[in-house]
Amino acid sequence: MSEILPDGESRNLQLIAERMRGRRTTKLFLRQRVSKKLVHDAIEVARWAPNHHLTEPWHFYSFGDETIVQTVELIRTIAAETKDEDVAEFKAKSAAAIPGWLLVTCKKSDDELLQRENYASCCCAIQNLTLYLSEAGVASKWTTGLITRDERFFDLLKIDSSDEFVVGLIWYGYPKILPTQSRKGVDEILTEMI
Ligand SMILES: Cc1cc2nc3c(=O)[nH]c(=O)nc-3n(C[C@H](O)[C@H](O)[C@H](O)COP(=O)(O)O)c2cc1C
Repeated sequence: MSEILPDGESRNLQLIAERMRGRRTTKLFLRQRVSKKLVHDAIEVARWAPNHHLTEPWHFYSFGDETIVQTVELIRTIAAETKDEDVAEFKAKSAAAIPGWLLVTCKKSDDELLQRENYASCCCAIQNLTLYLSEAGVASKWTTGLITRDERFFDLLKIDSSDEFVVGLIWYGYPKILPTQSRKGVDEILTEMI
């Protein structure tokens, strides 16, 4: 533990706040690949998320080229089924341009509370992961599109859907641009109780 300092005076406080504010979702990436080591290091940090009962409910699936090609084709198929051919072509083309793919799953449980808490931990893990990547200049997008609930996706990845569910499909890479974002003021979301 670091020394307790007066409010707001920790050396890294403003820095860490700026990093949390500065992480941005983007889907426009440069072709340049992110190293396997950086992704491995991000997963190492991700697993330090808070986790009730230390169930470590997460699993990370890092896609290679073949899996990316197969996934892009499935995205095309699903979009053609649910939208039309033009949308399918657009979605497949956009997906094919994404350099990094990481699927994060959570272990299923018959215990509803346990599964809820496990899901919460997985979300915290993804936040750890994306903040770490962001600090390395790598942006990401957490997606929960149709494919993440499609049985064909589980089949393709050889994941048992009775055992795991998808928390997020994380697209990542060096960003072409980072969008701007805003949030409500703290006074709108904070109720100070007596
Ligand atoms: C659980 C979860 C699911 C998300 N799924 C999608 C998605 O399917 N498509 C999408 O465009 N963005 C998705 N996002 C990203 C949000 O749209 C994004 O976080 C939001 O626009 C705020 O932008 P920021 O991350 O840059 O602050 C998801 C985020 C979370 C936490």
